[in-house]
Amino acid sequence: MAMASSAGALARRIREIARKKNAVILAHNYQIGDIQDVADFVGDSLGLSQEAAKSDAEIIVFCGVHFMAETASILAPQKKVLIPDLEAGCSLSDTLSEAQLRSWKAKYPEAAVVTYVNTSAAVKALSDYCCTSSNAVKVVRSIPEEREILFGPDMFLGAYVSRVTGRKNLRLWAGECHVHAAVRPEDIERTRAAHPDADFLIHPECGCVTSCMVYAQDNDVSREKAHILSTEGMVRHVQASPGKEFVVATETGIIHRMKKFAPGKRFIPVSDELECKYMKRITPEKLLRSLEDEVYEVKVPEEIAIKAKLPLERMVSIS
Ligand code: 13P
Ligand code: SF4
Repeated sequence: MAMASSAGALARRIREIARKKNAVILAHNYQIGDIQDVADFVGDSLGLSQEAAKSDAEIIVFCGVHFMAETASILAPQKKVLIPDLEAGCSLSDTLSEAQLRSWKAKYPEAAVVTYVNTSAAVKALSDYCCTSSNAVKVVRSIPEEREILFGPDMFLGAYVSRVTGRKNLRLWAGECHVHAAVRPEDIERTRAAHPDADFLIHPECGCVTSCMVYAQDNDVSREKAHILSTEGMVRHVQASPGKEFVVATETGIIHRMKKFAPGKRFIPVSDELECKYMKRITPEKLLRSLEDEVYEVKVPEEIAIKAKLPLERMVSIS
């Protein structure tokens, strides 16, 4: 009880300072429940980028990971963008450096470069288009059929996009997210077998997403119930679906949001181990300090921001 009331006091203090400072708190779907509950907006990478771009707040506090705060800074350069913990990185973003992308591009100078939003600002600055899990297919479809595409850094999302669009001229970078790559087909099979009537929701970053698609296509019952979705797509699905049970293959933080949006329904993670240690670095105490002391500012140097803005604006408009 004492803990609950101190958590409540902390949340009230956070809201009070945010109001006084005209700050908006954005939180990704993988944040812990206490952060999601105190935020102004909770959503996926695309939704949070859109909020950052249109917000009229003076300060944006990004409860997510570093590349997301960079994205907010690029789309809203006149605002002060803060992240409560600078160590909140992303293993997927780290798999493609600026130097690696430069040399990849040098090999295929005519190709269009599509990078997932989980990349550094410097990588975005070398890209033609950015995309998120919710619009990757649309972004690739918007590029003329005959043009070769370099797609990175997530090879599983890339393989999924290539399969859905039927594009053979999509070259994939061999990067992955350590959380989603660890989703094992046997975990999925076991969980689905234990809950045969449940809808099955899988994020396109998962290591077995392509095999799941093939399986679903070959099996009518499974196809009806399997849905490959971004984190926000999953939240919308559980609200709209008449189903009562959902097997969820993504980071487990999203289950807090699902429970709030679809009370009375049941959510079963394919594994309890799917936790992003970077997302979990943000705590209410760090968020409060971030607002009070206005730390840690994430500011993308202007010469990089100018170049990174175009592919990001294309991403935000193709949604
Ligand atoms: P979404 O764009 O679906 O929110 O995914 C972001 C992410 O980091 C997934 O690991
Ligand atoms: Fe990056 Fe994976 Fe964490 Fe998403 S879940 S932020 S892709 S490390």
